[in-house]
Amino acid sequence: MRLWKLSYTSIAVAAHDVALQQAHEICARSGERNARIDVSSVLTVHRGRFAQVLEGPEEAVRAVLRRIMGDARHHSVTVIADGPIVARRYGSWAMAYRDPKTYLAEQIDDILQQTADVVRAMKATWH
Ligand SMILES: Cc1cc2nc3c(=O)[nH]c(=O)nc-3n(C[C@H](O)[C@H](O)[C@H](O)COP(=O)(O)O)c2cc1C
Repeated sequence: MRLWKLSYTSIAVAAHDVALQQAHEICARSGERNARIDVSSVLTVHRGRFAQVLEGPEEAVRAVLRRIMGDARHHSVTVIADGPIVARRYGSWAMAYRDPKTYLAEQIDDILQQTADVVRAMKATWH
């Protein structure tokens, strides 16, 4: 089974404070369920939007997304990243809350790392 990363944003139905509380509740309730199917994840709330990264076996990640998409606490789920990865970033957390700054910094780190990997791979083919 391929190791997969999927991230999305969505619009929270509730106002920010309630959405933040919902995010913490979701983190508290979903950890065990994610762990059972080998999915690791982080979730944040920023300006009325949820953002989440899911990683694990591709089929498990897609199954979680299907359930999430039917959740009435948000709508307009928009997938940002959807592809294979070589290693997990969040292996220690089945479901953790991140403040938005940390969430964003980690995603930027990943993009920079991926870019560096691609450049390195391209350079290797030039010689
Ligand atoms: C933004 C958001 C993120 C969620 N993330 C997860 C998740 O990673 N794993 C999970 O099992 N449920 C997650 N849920 C909850 C599911 O949509 C669903 O409510 C839950 O899995 C069903 O649990 P229950 O039957 O115990 O209520 C999320 C919901 C929202 C709104």
